Amino acid sequence: MSIENAYNSWAKQYDNNENKTRDLDKKATISTLSNYKFNTVIELGCGTGKNTLWLLKNAQKIIGLDFSQEMLNKAKEKINTANVVFKKADLTKPWDIENDFADLVTSSLTLEHIKNLDVIFKQTSQKLKPNGLFFISELHPFKQYSGSKARFESENGTVELEVYTHHISEYLKSAKKYNFKLIEINEWFDQPSESEIPRLISFIFKK
Ligand SMILES: C[S@@+](CC[C@H](N)C(=O)[O-])C[C@H]1O[C@@H](n2cnc3c(N)ncnc32)[C@H](O)[C@@H]1O
Repeated sequence: MSIENAYNSWAKQYDNNENKTRDLDKKATISTLSNYKFNTVIELGCGTGKNTLWLLKNAQKIIGLDFSQEMLNKAKEKINTANVVFKKADLTKPWDIENDFADLVTSSLTLEHIKNLDVIFKQTSQKLKPNGLFFISELHPFKQYSGSKARFESENGTVELEVYTHHISEYLKSAKKYNFKLIEINEWFDQPSESEIPRLISFIFKK
């Protein structure tokens, strides 16, 4: 099943099924971005708008991009304001957004579905204002090495989505190629004891 179709199927239960990764991402996103100011935001792979709702408390204008119409429909059920525009778009193609639009580009749990990170860093650099921020929150590569990947239960059994492992060095190389500076890197654990493999990794890069 294509990634797009898998998310179209997942959409009806995405917000409600048990999903530690989704829940920890929300915590990581809010906890990290609460320390920054931004008005204009592009959300890559906005999905059902889980993080858009929080971003809207802090931003004047948000553009959410996603290629799953069903995920976008869920987002539109939650959020109906002129301040947020949801656009159906494939992130691996050119984004129909003016250059220097955003103070902040965010991407949560989406880059594991994108093979070539350069495509994302290049366009993020174009769409960010000078000194703009790029926030990434992803399944930690250690989790990926141990076999974790996006999956959900359907009527026909477990659906495992197509994913690409991204080593930490890949993020840093792509960031360097497009002249981003690393501002923050954090690892997020299920348990406060930090005795297990971290579930998520997050970065803040500055243009
Ligand atoms: C795990 S969901 C994350 C949704 C949301 N960011 C969150 O944290 O809840 C991944 C999202 O990325 C989208 N996505 C994956 N690959 C994409 C691509 N090439 N272009 C656009 N959207 C994509 C999927 O449709 C899905 O909505």
